[in-house]
Amino acid sequence: METENEHTKNILGLKLPTDPRWVNLTELHLEDILTDHAYCEQKAATTCISLITKNSDKERIVEELSPIVTEEWGHFRTVLAELKKRNLKLGRQRKDVYVNKLIEFTKKDGSPDAKFLDQMLLMALIEARSCERFKRLSESLDDEYMRNFYRRFMESEAGHYTLFINLAEFYIDKNVVRKRWAEWLAFEKEIMNSQAVRGDRIH
Ligand SMILES: [Fe+2]
Ligand SMILES: [Fe+2]
Repeated sequence: METENEHTKNILGLKLPTDPRWVNLTELHLEDILTDHAYCEQKAATTCISLITKNSDKERIVEELSPIVTEEWGHFRTVLAELKKRNLKLGRQRKDVYVNKLIEFTKKDGSPDAKFLDQMLLMALIEARSCERFKRLSESLDDEYMRNFYRRFMESEAGHYTLFINLAEFYIDKNVVRKRWAEWLAFEKEIMNSQAVRGDRIH
């Protein structure tokens, strides 16, 4: 059997696997986790729209992110329907500490290329971690219906991770992408290490 570390390395290069206790905690916070998940999907859709408008000179960005907007919005609606089915409310958006910390790592005063690269890698990283978390849920939840529910998200977010890395490498030198990606992965590991394990958040 592969070790936990090798296992996670296989999931998109992440440096720290999710604490196994997290899955059990989410089972106690279904409404919170669905709400947080819904807003993750909303933010993914919103961010893709903003990436298209900010990078309208980059044809591949416009072409390839447009269908992702639709897909992420579809995810939002799927989670919304799941809430409704269970008579649960969407409620207000929670403070997203994880994503806010990641945003702090983006280069604010770099060259346009450096800023663009960070936009792509920020998205790739959130997709990778979301994929890893959905994988955990799809493997370890008690409820078979919910395991299947999360498996579909896992597959979709894995594809998005790949897309953002490919888009980065299309516009920016691969060695530059690789070097900065390693920095992002190391930073994300620190964030994961510093956060308490709580079952009411996807990240
Ligand atoms: Fe999604
Ligand atoms: Fe996604």
